Amino acid sequence: MTDFIHDILNDIFSRYFRLKPIRLMLFVTGKCNAKCTMCNIWKGHNNPELGLSDYEKFTADPILSNIKYVVITGGEACLRDDLVDIVRTIVKNIPKIKKITLATNGLNKNMVMEKVENICKILENRNISFTVQISFDALKEENDKIRGIKDATQKVTSTIAGINLLKETYPFIRIVCNCLIQPLNLQKLESIYTHFLKEKIDFFFTVVNFSGTYYNNLKNSNVQFNSQQKKAAADFLRKISRDVKNLGSINERDLGKRFLFFELAEMISGKTQTRGCPILRENMAIQYDGRIIPCNITESLYYGNATVANLSDIWACKKTYETMEKIKREYCSTCISTCGASPINVAQYYIKNVHKEVLLRLGSKKGLTGG
Ligand SMILES: C[S@@+](CC[C@H](N)C(=O)[O-])C[C@H]1O[C@@H](n2cnc3c(N)ncnc32)[C@H](O)[C@@H]1O
Ligand code: SF4
Ligand code: SF4
Repeated sequence: MTDFIHDILNDIFSRYFRLKPIRLMLFVTGKCNAKCTMCNIWKGHNNPELGLSDYEKFTADPILSNIKYVVITGGEACLRDDLVDIVRTIVKNIPKIKKITLATNGLNKNMVMEKVENICKILENRNISFTVQISFDALKEENDKIRGIKDATQKVTSTIAGINLLKETYPFIRIVCNCLIQPLNLQKLESIYTHFLKEKIDFFFTVVNFSGTYYNNLKNSNVQFNSQQKKAAADFLRKISRDVKNLGSINERDLGKRFLFFELAEMISGKTQTRGCPILRENMAIQYDGRIIPCNITESLYYGNATVANLSDIWACKKTYETMEKIKREYCSTCISTCGASPINVAQYYIKNVHKEVLLRLGSKKGLTGG
């Protein structure tokens, strides 16, 4: 609860003052072992990747002293042989970490399990929760097409089962599957949703985004929605945003999740952002080569490079402020990246819709769900 109140205060004050970031996103590699249709990271890059000694140096920067939430992603982060050492360094240098999330495609069970188990050994008895976020886009061969890998679903399912076993030793692990809504799985969303509920798998649904640098997918025409597909995606998201019976309506995580589904549905239908994305205000994001980027969508407008300037200077310099203003003006209102939502905006949504929420709760007690 104290953390939640602290996050709300941070959300309010960061709108007026340049506070230290509370979130750190590390894109530890640009390499990948999949060949996804909606993301071209796997096609490679030319820049050298940061080494462990760079992480040792950057994470000791005092600008990171308030970091509570760390996301480790890529590319496929588990491909880094020194991933566990990177986590050890982060935990040693950043004192207030509460949660670490590792994003993985889950396609190589042994590789992922080895990393997850060794990270658990570091986090044990430290009061830091550990979420493994696993991509899960379809149940059958559509997933092979999306990930460009044969038997993708079996592989991911086996990784999930393996991590579930690890939970017996390390109960602080949480698994969250992320299903990325795109034309190739649009007809399968109901079955994926039912699968998550039936198997009691925690999940999130996001919608395919486009960016010229990070996903490098502006020319991937097979992942662009036509107007009918947009409507189908929005209908699905709107429906699950109202599924009080299955998604709950009591804690802030459930409420935030349902709000984000609603927000995505509205935005696909042409509305502008109401989630108050906190990324520019609260998040330090370091690319595999040291670039400090605003977010996935605006990676090309990076603020500076940690290999030539220190993080504290980059976080609060004129170029960063100007870039942030440009992003707010030109990108944020139409951006459907679900990097986060302001708790204030989530609360505003429920206050506005409280009467509907009460009716839905009453409906759910009678066994009604969905829209
Ligand atoms: C870029 S990946 C990196 C982690 C890991 N390689 C994976 O696929 O899970 C992080 C998340 O972004 C999602 N993603 C991939 N392409 C995307 C796109 N074009 N728009 C939005 N999200 C995307 C993935 O499905 C995954 O859940
Ligand atoms: S989505 Fe993840 S697995 Fe797919 S290419 Fe991008 S980084 Fe690799
Ligand atoms: S709304 Fe989108 S473009 Fe704007 S900061 Fe958030 S993620 Fe980036």
